[in-house]
Amino acid sequence: MFPLDQIHHASTLLKAGELVAFPTETVYGLGANALDNLAVARIFAVKQRPHFNPLIVHCADIKTAQTYAQWNAQAEMLATTFWPGPLTLVLPRKADCTISELTSAGLETIALRIPSHPGALQLLRECGLPLAAPSANRSGRVSPTTAQHVRDELGSGIHCILDGGACSVGLESTVVDVSGEAPVLLRPGFITQDMLELALKKHVLSPESGKIIAPGMLASHYAPSLPVRLNARSVQSDEALLAFGGDIPPSAADVLNLSVRGDLVEAAANLFAHLRALDKPGYNCIAVMPIPEEGLGIAINDRLGRAAAQRS
Ligand code: TXA
Ligand code: MG
Repeated sequence: MFPLDQIHHASTLLKAGELVAFPTETVYGLGANALDNLAVARIFAVKQRPHFNPLIVHCADIKTAQTYAQWNAQAEMLATTFWPGPLTLVLPRKADCTISELTSAGLETIALRIPSHPGALQLLRECGLPLAAPSANRSGRVSPTTAQHVRDELGSGIHCILDGGACSVGLESTVVDVSGEAPVLLRPGFITQDMLELALKKHVLSPESGKIIAPGMLASHYAPSLPVRLNARSVQSDEALLAFGGDIPPSAADVLNLSVRGDLVEAAANLFAHLRALDKPGYNCIAVMPIPEEGLGIAINDRLGRAAAQRS
């Protein structure tokens, strides 16, 4: 457990949309308010991720988790057996789910977990928010299991690192998709396939079959039904425009701007919601203005490239 002043400070930062690194029993997480697109976009910026992986949403209790996901019998069984603990459940989002679209990277599913680390639970209870938290390392590096690792990895990028000593598990949580009939182990971890099968009394598909639906490749990964035209510098009358920056083609009728001031973090925060909003009957295409290929722009262009390739 942490001293109250530390927990209050961390909680105030989270409510203000800032990032806080905190210990869990598995690895240290880089936490943000999962309801706040802009706060979640900051995670991707600090981690320097070249694409938008969906993030795990950490909750204080099962009741909170159930408000965001379509719960089912398999989830109930695994949650009561292994939570709080190093297990993440992937479930369909509820229709009225308020978790940011960027947290789910546009997927129709959501990954949920209740950590068992007393300090993590204390933080979740105090701030009263669901926390999106990937491992607190820069993209492509190993996960941190001490506060010093986090400082070494991200030091200058975050204002607050809660130091809870070394993580007891030291390995990321097991991720299991229980959104369908057959559970699929997406990432092996401390909770083994055998333990899952024992609890569910049924076969769990192995990581190999799970790889086929690696998040970036998922068919359900939000793809607009309209074709997407990239690097648009002009716009036709039958096109909706996804704009970036202040210099918009004058003929544009239906425009949503990712960021008027050309801010890539703000653009990432708006990406999935704006794509969804422009994807409606009445237009033949979504034209997308050029996004600079730097910082978070790399992840935005990766996602837009996939959206455009869907049709061609
Ligand atoms: O132990 C852990 O899980 C740590 C601590 C901080 O809780 N967090 C962590 O997060 O490892 P991250 O972002 O490094 O890994 C999240 C994993 C990724 O493999 C991601 O693809 C998967 O969870 N994931 C998240 N949402 C998903 C979804 N909707 N469908 C499928 N996979 C999902
Ligand atoms: Mg990670």
